[in-house]
Amino acid sequence: MTKLTAIRGFKDILPRETGKWQHVEAIARQVFAGYGIHEIKIPLLEKTELFKRGIGETTDIVEKEMYTFLDRGDEYLTLRPEATASVIRAYLEHSMHQPDSLTKLYTIGPMFRRERPQKGRFRQFHQINVEYIGLKDPRIDSELIAMLMHFLSATGLTGLRLEINSLGCPRCRPAFRDNVKRLLQDKKDTLCADCQRRLETNPLRIFDCKKESCQESIAGIPTILEYICDDCSDHFEKVKNYLALLGVAYTINARMVRGLDYYTQTAFEITTESLGAQNAVAGGGRYDGLTQILGGPEIPGIGFAIGLERLISLVPGNYEDFVQSPHLFIAALGERAQEFAFRLCDALRKAGIRSEMDVSDRSLKSQMKRSDRCNCPHTLIIGERELDDGTAPLRDMTTKEQELLDIGSTDGIVSALLARIGQVPAGDTGER
Ligand code: HAM
Repeated sequence: MTKLTAIRGFKDILPRETGKWQHVEAIARQVFAGYGIHEIKIPLLEKTELFKRGIGETTDIVEKEMYTFLDRGDEYLTLRPEATASVIRAYLEHSMHQPDSLTKLYTIGPMFRRERPQKGRFRQFHQINVEYIGLKDPRIDSELIAMLMHFLSATGLTGLRLEINSLGCPRCRPAFRDNVKRLLQDKKDTLCADCQRRLETNPLRIFDCKKESCQESIAGIPTILEYICDDCSDHFEKVKNYLALLGVAYTINARMVRGLDYYTQTAFEITTESLGAQNAVAGGGRYDGLTQILGGPEIPGIGFAIGLERLISLVPGNYEDFVQSPHLFIAALGERAQEFAFRLCDALRKAGIRSEMDVSDRSLKSQMKRSDRCNCPHTLIIGERELDDGTAPLRDMTTKEQELLDIGSTDGIVSALLARIGQVPAGDTGER
């Protein structure tokens, strides 16, 4: 029989890798707590209609990339390609809106897009998603962006580039869209087949096309910043000023459009040269019309999502550096010592000391080898004689020095070990 493998573009995240993932997620939770951002957990599956309306019928995501199926002949469902539409759906469904106040939410988890897999691009990938919902003040935009930059540098990232733009609003964007359409009509033949179609359905999407001929065709046409209304321009100026006030460096990319149709005004992306072609670590923006598109009242919002696979590939340190090794290995020789070690291991683990032992009753040499393989800093060696004496050698696996440990009482062993490995509170989750 053929061996079954994972689906193309879907990746296992292995135990040697998950320590780094947990490390990054722990920093996210810690940073978000400081800004009063609360976690929301939303379903992986939603009604297809949510994404069609939320993201936009003529975006690449909705046109070509969604995993959609008819649920037992009942209704169309879709594996979420992003989280914002779902978060806003949940926000409206659970009446989370409170006048004049900001609701700050985050969610972490997998998203699904049927894109062509390549380095940094998967069909199942993970995002850290943050949404600030309820207020429109430009300080909110700047605070959110500054928080994102703070989080990314807290994970150790350097060399990031923050690009910002304003995408206008329903009052000023149509004039820009019409003009792009008009100007490109003459150059239609130079556009790729996709962009020729986009010219009719969603001309601004052409700005996102990676094909050189399309990029050349749009090179000369004016940017949205030449079209935005006074309101949008004023908002954009203030966002820039508040970013400067918070010491956040940015560049303006007037050709940035983002791949989702819900954006209004502020849009931003964080890129880095170290990622290659898929260079965006994070992206986001304001979406003041989304609540209405989803059938609710008019409530402004702004948010971003970070691609976790891309972020983790940039966080300094090898996967091995983040693996939680045991604090102690117990090498036990003989039946009595094995039984003693079995009970001791249990007691130490309950006291928050990560402990391992070998239950195969192998030779001391092979048990020491296993201790080395687990990367344990200390090994406690117990045999018949040690049990009779009430003391056992504790070996420092780096220096190979040994000292005698009193093994007369479990409490005594626990406090002696805690003193050596640094105080570990009972019930330590092992998170850094
Ligand atoms: P997005 O730009 O589509 O925005 O995705 C955000 C980030 O997710 C990207 O910058 C990238 O790091 C990562 N990403 C996207 N697609 C893939 C993929 N196929 N493989 C690996 N990583 C990927 C959104 O999703 C919006 N919902 C962000 C947002 C939140 N806007 C407002 N609130």
